[in-house]
Amino acid sequence: MSTFLTVRHVTKHFGGVAALDDCSLSFERGHITGIIGPNGAGKTTLLNAMTGLVKPDVGSIEFDGQDITALPMHRIASRGLVRTFQIVRELRGLTVFESLLLCPPHQIGEKVSGALFLRPLVNKQDRENATKARAILERLGLWRVADQSAAALSGGQKKLLELARVLLLDPKFILLDEPAAGVAPPLLKDIVRIIKELNAEGISFAIVEHDMHLINEVCDDVHVLAEGTALVSGSFADVTADQRVIDAYLGMAI
Ligand SMILES: Nc1ncnc2c1ncn2[C@@H]1O[C@H](COP(=O)(O)OP(=O)(O)O)[C@@H](O)[C@H]1O
Ligand SMILES: [Mg+2]
Repeated sequence: MSTFLTVRHVTKHFGGVAALDDCSLSFERGHITGIIGPNGAGKTTLLNAMTGLVKPDVGSIEFDGQDITALPMHRIASRGLVRTFQIVRELRGLTVFESLLLCPPHQIGEKVSGALFLRPLVNKQDRENATKARAILERLGLWRVADQSAAALSGGQKKLLELARVLLLDPKFILLDEPAAGVAPPLLKDIVRIIKELNAEGISFAIVEHDMHLINEVCDDVHVLAEGTALVSGSFADVTADQRVIDAYLGMAI
């Protein structure tokens, strides 16, 4: 095992609030790592900082042996480090298939512009993207809804579509923010199975999630965040038995 990503002493303020406060932790290559912690602990900000969506005030982030702290989001994505996003409002009116084709690699993180909408698939790269998009949709069980409105998908299908969009980028490390939120049990099983399959094929994952069953089932190790800082790291069994973690949740059931 080797370290894939290292967060060193990262602090990020929003106004007077320290969303991350001297946060240091690392992620192993090949692992599925869980990130848990109470609401407001800084979990989403951590994912945003790791993928370049927000820039740390202080500290550094190293991915795959290189300092990525100053890189823009699309450059980080092209190195294989991506996070999923909720299907954006602008995609309303598009089919599932169309919504994937609006996300070729160099446009990740950029606002979807009007010029991209419903452009005919004229060139070779477009056709290759379309072939790849179809294969990904088939794999995720979404090909049968490819012609339906993306906005009309169920909560779980939307999560799968978010995953489909990042899979087009040939990622090495995928960060998921609450993949189980709003997902009905049958689709949750599919999502868990697909995460495990992709991991077995070599993709590393970091997963922020409140569903402790999911964390326990899929994660090799877990980081606990509290008040912007990494509190405890270890196996799910170890961290959930740790008194500092129990105190951080203030008696909430975990
Ligand atoms: N864009 C933002 N503007 C202002 N405050 C923010 C912003 N993003 C996060 N925060 C604040 O930073 C803290 C951590 O938020 P967040 O990273 O979303 O936590 P979590 O995902 O663990 O619930 C919270 O107090 C939140 O209100
Ligand atoms: Mg969050």
